[in-house]
Amino acid sequence: MSAQLRLRPPVAADETEFRAAHLAMLPDFLFGLGYEPDEPFDAYCRLLEDQRCGRRLAAGRVAATFLLAEIDGVIVGRASIRHALNERLVQVGGHIGYGVLPTHRRRGYGTEILRQCLIIVRSHGVARVLVTCDDDNVGSRTVIERCGGVFESHVDDENGVLQRRYWID
Ligand SMILES: CC(C)(COP(=O)(O)OP(=O)(O)OC[C@H]1O[C@@H](n2cnc3c(N)ncnc32)[C@H](O)[C@@H]1OP(=O)(O)O)[C@@H](O)C(=O)NCCC(=O)NCCS
Repeated sequence: MSAQLRLRPPVAADETEFRAAHLAMLPDFLFGLGYEPDEPFDAYCRLLEDQRCGRRLAAGRVAATFLLAEIDGVIVGRASIRHALNERLVQVGGHIGYGVLPTHRRRGYGTEILRQCLIIVRSHGVARVLVTCDDDNVGSRTVIERCGGVFESHVDDENGVLQRRYWID
């Protein structure tokens, strides 16, 4: 399924839909990473493009690609692909983060997003991909395992929430 799911960068015309998606995922999940709803959206798109190119990164940040997932022109989720790991990401966070909007879940989109992200992260020279999730996040665990994730270890995040770390070759 989901042959029609497309990953693409946000553009200025996405502003209204992006804002709604961001709000729909709060407070459990940060849809718009670094997104401030009151700031100009085109500037946010440029910030994401800078991050993709590794330009003007804040200290300790790695280059990352932020992509929207759409089906037939409708935003259903998003992905963040880190091109490398830093000290924190190698413990918690990993190479790829993703989310599917609540009204679009259980249709295989999460699995398809991660599958496509694996191709993209490998294009950055990443041979072994780290993906992590909360220990009790059954949906994400299933997505990761369906994409070939091999469980390695548990670790607490900075808030003491137990995480599962998986590697995908
Ligand atoms: C985790 C998440 C991305 C899954 O997205 P999704 O589009 O529903 O995933 P899929 O449809 O590919 O589901 C894959 C399988 O996971 C399992 N699954 C998904 N959600 C589940 C849930 N809430 N409870 C139990 N199993 C679940 C199911 O087995 C499902 O397959 P099935 O519907 O054929 O039974 C989505 O729930 C989400 O965005 N959650 C909030 C953000 C988040 O946790 N992101 C991941 C951070 S690591």
